[in-house]
Amino acid sequence: MDHLTVVDHPLVQHKLTIMRQTDTSTGEFRRLLREISQLIAYEVTRELPMTTKRIDTPMQEMDAPVLAGRKLALVSILRAGNGLLDGMLELIPSARVGFVGLYRDEETLEPVQYYFKAPDNLGERLVIAVDPMLATGNSSAAAIDLLKEQGAKDIRFLCLLAAPEGVARMKEAHPDVPIVTAALDERLNEKGYIMPGLGDAGDRMFGTK
Ligand code: URA
Repeated sequence: MDHLTVVDHPLVQHKLTIMRQTDTSTGEFRRLLREISQLIAYEVTRELPMTTKRIDTPMQEMDAPVLAGRKLALVSILRAGNGLLDGMLELIPSARVGFVGLYRDEETLEPVQYYFKAPDNLGERLVIAVDPMLATGNSSAAAIDLLKEQGAKDIRFLCLLAAPEGVARMKEAHPDVPIVTAALDERLNEKGYIMPGLGDAGDRMFGTK
């Protein structure tokens, strides 16, 4: 996969525009995030290995394509990652799930870890880390560091919005981790928010402020 893939499918772009709007309600925001996560999941799982299985249709036998059973782990970067996780789990219900708890120090913008729990045998799995906002890239890069320390080798990063600064940071820290996003925005502001962005994804998803 390329280092950065922007999923420019019309349905994704239309839903994202509604999510960006200030007057979109919490419930609508959450619903759209779940829907978009499923559309982006198609892209991030596009190269999953396939095999065939002999089946009977009502008409005849055939060798039909099935997933080759590659082990998957979805890792949510708390708390906003859970909005992407829910939709992906509907598509891939057998995936194992991990959580990385990082918050961003508002002064330094550096990530601080408060939780980590991941499935066994990360080295044998395709690991898809999810976080809606790739902003400075500091917490995303730190989350990937933790996953690699636990043995993960094949990692992809899925987000809703990315800033060029975050993409560059990830490319420098983890050039082996492809990023899949719905949009590459213009820049970060002085507080590390993505512009034009959609605000604080966690607050918009959970109705906090
Ligand atoms: N996290 C968010 O939720 N929004 C941003 O714009 C940047 C980081």
